[in-house]
Amino acid sequence: MTLPSTSHLLDGQAALVTGAAAGIGESIAITFARHGAKVVLLDRDGDGAARVAAAIAADGGTARAETADVRDPAALAAAVDASIGAFGRIDVLVNNAGAYPRRPFLEMSETEWDDVLAVNLKSVFLCSRLVLPHMVRQGAGAIVNISSVTFFLGMERLAHYVSAKGGIIGLTRVLAREVGRHGIRVNCISPGAIRTESEKQVATVEEANAVIPLQCLKRRIMPDDVANVALFLASGLGGAITGQTLNVDGGWIHY
Ligand SMILES: NC(=O)c1ccc[n+]([C@@H]2O[C@H](COP(=O)([O-])OP(=O)(O)OC[C@H]3O[C@@H](n4cnc5c(N)ncnc54)[C@H](O)[C@@H]3O)[C@@H](O)[C@H]2O)c1
Repeated sequence: MTLPSTSHLLDGQAALVTGAAAGIGESIAITFARHGAKVVLLDRDGDGAARVAAAIAADGGTARAETADVRDPAALAAAVDASIGAFGRIDVLVNNAGAYPRRPFLEMSETEWDDVLAVNLKSVFLCSRLVLPHMVRQGAGAIVNISSVTFFLGMERLAHYVSAKGGIIGLTRVLAREVGRHGIRVNCISPGAIRTESEKQVATVEEANAVIPLQCLKRRIMPDDVANVALFLASGLGGAITGQTLNVDGGWIHY
């Protein structure tokens, strides 16, 4: 049996990462580029995406930034077309873009509910629907969706977000069944408490520290921890895995 080279797991492949201007998405884009992928960084923060793309290029990698809001089907279609135009293919899609505003359920407006569902869940439908025809034509591909352990925990003040993240796990399972016959794998990661800049805005240091004793591993879980699992699932190392959700949470939850 020939094992894939572990130094360039994504050599010759093109990957599109949504929400790649910051946090977990930025880390995934950098990790993929270091493993040989040509990376498209899609984000509504075009300047941020361009900054990460420039850092990847300075590191010897290949990357391009696309400005698009994942709620906007036309902008997404244009970004996917531009990506195919530039790299000729998309082998890996990471549906990472997301937002997690906190609000008690009884104060939640219908508008905010719809918006959080659009950013976190409908975006996965829109991006996957645009990219999958290219993967089907190629006869291969991998999609990695980013959910959240809050789905398993049922965290307060996140009813819209938790509902969306549960939907992603369901969509992962259905898509895996529908596209497996084309050699395409669809998997999901549920991060735990990852100390990104956005997480710092919604959770105090005390709140973040309070999670650590609940984890098996008594340390902060970092964006790179999630990126390494995304690399595993996107590459040949995870070649027999599809329809699965992996928790990357230091052992916070056990189911
Ligand atoms: N940080 C955590 O503790 C944690 C835990 C579980 C799950 N997650 C999930 O991981 C993913 C990344 O989270 P993060 O903490 O790195 O967030 P982040 O805010 O640091 O990064 C999110 C990126 O997505 C982009 N983005 C947001 N809305 C967008 C939109 N409508 N269109 C295009 N781009 C958009 C932002 O500009 C940003 O660059 C999200 O799906 C989040 O729900 C995070």
